[in-house]
Amino acid sequence: MKYSLSELSEIIENRRTIFPEQFSERKVQKEQVERLINAAKWAPNHRLTQPWRFTIFMENGLKEFGDFHSNLYKEKKSEAEFSQMKFDKILNRAMVSSAIIVVGVSKDSTGKVPFVEELAATAAAVQNMALMATAFGLAFYWGTGGMTYSDEMKSYIGLEKDGQVLGQLFLGYPAIDWPRKTPRKPIEYFTDWRV
Ligand SMILES: Cc1cc2nc3c(=O)[nH]c(=O)nc-3n(C[C@H](O)[C@H](O)[C@H](O)COP(=O)(O)O)c2cc1C
Repeated sequence: MKYSLSELSEIIENRRTIFPEQFSERKVQKEQVERLINAAKWAPNHRLTQPWRFTIFMENGLKEFGDFHSNLYKEKKSEAEFSQMKFDKILNRAMVSSAIIVVGVSKDSTGKVPFVEELAATAAAVQNMALMATAFGLAFYWGTGGMTYSDEMKSYIGLEKDGQVLGQLFLGYPAIDWPRKTPRKPIEYFTDWRV
C-alpha cells in the first residue's frame, strides 16, 4: 500500500470546526497558508477551469477586513435588525485570526462548465485546505455569516458580479483541546445500494 489509509482516515474524521473565539495567540505562518492554498489547487475541476479564487487577509489586512466587514454589516442592517454584539463579533473574529481566506468562485467564461460544477470544485478545494490544516494541527472554521453573500463582499475581493462567494475561512491555532467528533449517521441512512 502506497499511502497510510489509517492516517488519511484519521485526518478526515478528526477535521473539526474550531471557532475564532477558541483560537490561541499563536500565529499561523504565511508558509503554512501557502501550503493550504497549494493543497486546494489539486481539487478536481471540470475542464480544468480552476474556478477558485482566494483572497487572503493576514497581519494589517485582518484589521482592514474586519473593519470593512463590520461596517458593511452596520450599513446594510436597519436600526431594528442591527446587533452591536454581532458587529463586535465580526470585528473580533478578524482580530483574533491569523488569517482569513475569503473564497470566491469564478464563473467559466466559455459557459461550457455549469456553475454548479464550479461551486462543487471549489468546495472540494476548501476541503483539501481543511484536511491540510488538520494535519498541521491548525484551527479552521468555514463561516458564511455576516455579509458573506453580499454583492459588496464580492466586489471587495475583486470577484465578477456573476461569481459567488463561498465563505470565509478563519485560521489560527486552537487554545482548546481538539474537539470531539460531531455526530454523523451510519451510512445506511443516506446510501442506496443497488447490486
Ligand atoms: C458551506 C458551509 C458553511 C458554514 N457556515 C457556518 C456558519 O456560518 N456558522 C457556523 O457556525 N458554522 C458554519 N459551518 C460549519 C458547520 O457548522 C460545521 O461544519 C458543522 O457544525 C459540523 O462540525 P464539524 O465541522 O466540526 O464536523 C459551515 C460549514 C460549511 C460546509
